[in-house]
Amino acid sequence: MRAVRYHEFGDPDVLQLEEIPRLDPNPDEVLLAVEAIGVNPCDALRREGLWGDDLPLITGSDVAGTVEAAGDRVSAFAAGDRVFGTIPRLNSTGGRGDRQGACAEYVVVREDRLAPLPDGVSATVGAGIGIVGITAWRALRRFGSLEAGDACLVHGGSGGVGHVAVQLASALGATVIATASDERADAVRSFGADAVIDYDRPNGELEAAIAEVTDGVDVVLDHRIEEYVQLDIDVSGYGGTVVVIGNNRDSPTIEDLTEAIGKDLTIQPMDAFSEPHIDSVLRRLGALLRRDRLTVAVAETYDLEETAAAQRAVMNDSFTGKLVIEP
Ligand SMILES: NC(=O)c1ccc[n+]([C@@H]2O[C@H](COP(=O)([O-])OP(=O)(O)OC[C@H]3O[C@@H](n4cnc5c(N)ncnc54)[C@H](OP(=O)(O)O)[C@@H]3O)[C@@H](O)[C@H]2O)c1
Repeated sequence: MRAVRYHEFGDPDVLQLEEIPRLDPNPDEVLLAVEAIGVNPCDALRREGLWGDDLPLITGSDVAGTVEAAGDRVSAFAAGDRVFGTIPRLNSTGGRGDRQGACAEYVVVREDRLAPLPDGVSATVGAGIGIVGITAWRALRRFGSLEAGDACLVHGGSGGVGHVAVQLASALGATVIATASDERADAVRSFGADAVIDYDRPNGELEAAIAEVTDGVDVVLDHRIEEYVQLDIDVSGYGGTVVVIGNNRDSPTIEDLTEAIGKDLTIQPMDAFSEPHIDSVLRRLGALLRRDRLTVAVAETYDLEETAAAQRAVMNDSFTGKLVIEP
């Protein structure tokens, strides 16, 4: 089968399209004929060596496709089923080095990393939702306990995580405030944001614009915490939660902790791959996809040969939603 692997860590040029043998599924795995692969910043970070995986490694995490064969202990899926899911860092080998990633014509995936792809939902959308959907759901529900009537601030509402978080928060009945570039404001509104604020405005203006919508945000989803930590604290209401999913490689500095203390705030870093029940979150996301309460905006699709370009774009380019590879 064709697969995109790397034998050393580095920039996208280390990715090589190779012909390699297909793996047989372990008893708890299925073999998928891959129809689509989502592209995520973590694929690029991992390729750069952030997690020090064993090499060579097939790149890619999120996947959708059709079950070709199922291991003896697999009970949820059978040959012919269409599924979507994600291959986390901790895969079937139990160690940091996965058996393989998603960028290939066939892939083996543990059944508890997958959910059925609902009828009428494309593999492209299924592959696009994995990590960003798990992240948004974990951030807003598991850690933020977001409920109807709450106010939710999503930084970067046009991005992969952001555009799903906006839809999810809206579906949960929250008032949704998102930051985005002016160019993408209409798209973010179409995902369900009640207010979209240009992230290029100085923090003081951002804060004032947020205060026009709510006197206290209940849940913040922040992927650039070193830029926004003080703003997040300032706009949060009593008992609020600031969920941290990323930073721009610098650590945050809180200028004034007094306010956070006074508000009993929770600042909660989280990792999507630490989710203990990935399949159950995927099934919830699948239910929302089936009912058109959630979708994935696919900004661009790539061939398998163009995986390096896709990983460059996910780190450097501006787009609405997700980039997806279709082998
Ligand atoms: N902890 C976890 O489990 C987890 C899971 C998933 C992702 N992440 C991290 O979360 C981040 C976002 O991931 P993603 O997949 O959503 O990436 P993405 O699709 O590239 O989205 C990034 C978003 O950030 C926006 N942005 C750029 N500059 C900004 C600024 N100054 N203020 C606010 N927003 C700004 C971008 O808008 P423009 O297009 O206008 O530049 C874009 O909408 C990445 O760092 C990723 O590594 C963490």
